[in-house]
Amino acid sequence: MQPRHSLQLSPEEMRRLGYRVIDMIVDHIATLPQSPVGAKASPQALHDVLSQPLSDHPADPHELLDFLQHEILPNNLKVDHPRFFAFVPGPNNFVSAMADALAAGLNVFNGTWLGGSAAAAMELTVVDWLRSFCGLPETAGGVLVSGGSVANLTALAAARHAMLGDDTTDAVAYLSDQTHSSVARALRVIGLHHIRTIESDANYRIQLDTLADAVHRDRTNNLRPFCIIANAGTTNTGAVDPLPALADFCAAENLWLHADGAYGAAAAICEPGSRALTGLHRVDSLSLDPHKWLFQSIECGCVLLRDREILRRFYRVMPEYLRDVHKGAEELHPCDHGIQLTRAFRSLKLWLSLRTFGLDAFRHAVARGFTLADFAENELRNTPGCRIISPANMAIVCFDFPQSPIRPSEVVDKMLSESYAFLTSTHLKGADCLRLCTINPRTTEADLRETIHRISLLTN
Ligand SMILES: Cc1ncc(COP(=O)(O)O)c(C=O)c1O
Repeated sequence: MQPRHSLQLSPEEMRRLGYRVIDMIVDHIATLPQSPVGAKASPQALHDVLSQPLSDHPADPHELLDFLQHEILPNNLKVDHPRFFAFVPGPNNFVSAMADALAAGLNVFNGTWLGGSAAAAMELTVVDWLRSFCGLPETAGGVLVSGGSVANLTALAAARHAMLGDDTTDAVAYLSDQTHSSVARALRVIGLHHIRTIESDANYRIQLDTLADAVHRDRTNNLRPFCIIANAGTTNTGAVDPLPALADFCAAENLWLHADGAYGAAAAICEPGSRALTGLHRVDSLSLDPHKWLFQSIECGCVLLRDREILRRFYRVMPEYLRDVHKGAEELHPCDHGIQLTRAFRSLKLWLSLRTFGLDAFRHAVARGFTLADFAENELRNTPGCRIISPANMAIVCFDFPQSPIRPSEVVDKMLSESYAFLTSTHLKGADCLRLCTINPRTTEADLRETIHRISLLTN
């Protein structure tokens, strides 16, 4: 092949490659129900196929796609598969994927109003939709980020600024033993050394009395309680902490209330979700991941602050080489509200897919997750030897087979090698158990019935 020093393909070549890529995506989606749930290869096996030295010379991209299709991509798990019930599935939608392709193809810069005014305006619109889903006031706002981990970090760093003037000496944060690990990591990043992990109750919700005792004890010891991190849908069991009581407590104690709704907050758009999330509108900051329960392609998270100005006060830095950027006060610069300057046009996928399908379709798709978890719980209750550890809650159900000689983690391994369906295990109050997360609206009752049947065969 001729060298291509300008890194350019002809329009015909681009179309041929692009259509081939689209065909790969459509084939992937269209054949999901009858395809394996994916596979995990050994590091050695993947190293062996990928470790050729990088050539100085060009190759045919179609041959490279063949290689990817046959040797590489089958070694990923398909988080969008209707029988992928592990961790938090990623049941994205095709429109969202196409929007990502468009944003990448046009290489839109979404850091400043000058660089991408349309992108910045669309982000404002979309973030405002998310704000309204959660019932936060119109003064609230935020930005799109890569996902829940960065959303938690972005919010907690801003909270530190607002509450502590960035001085973390003797400052204390409170969370439950069910809080996602990204929160502990975020607190470590912002230099917070005192973290109180409050034991959760029988329903995996933070215990208010224990929390209040811890705050008062810390005050007595001249420490500086500053923030409570509430769960708006835990990863383990879907538990939602008592948000109204926590909001009352934070108001009385002058504490910041952050809610990690990376998994659960999007459920506020449907009736069962909004019931479970009562009080969500009272938080000071919130993480919500559209790449989880709003069916967007990875990466798409959102951080919302009740007072969006706090984000700008903390994150805005104005170097001389951006002097042409900060002109009109009404122009919003996404880079002033988080840690990224060069940012992807993430709002496009939300805008295009929410507009294409309409909010009602999204509401039904989220509500379907609740229905499927109820169905799964019922099937499990009718499965001999099965014990429900945590009943269906925010589309998650946990269970075990107490008499089984096979441990949950072995069930996981066997399910992976069968590749019909996939789920993962966790540890809840001293018990190892299995966990199903049913947020994929394309999962059928038959998928769940057969998956549970196979699990019960493995545990016998
Ligand atoms: C409750 C919760 N918080 C935070 C996160 C981290 O989100 P991400 O993986 O998008 O960074 C997750 C991920 O599953 C989660 O379930």
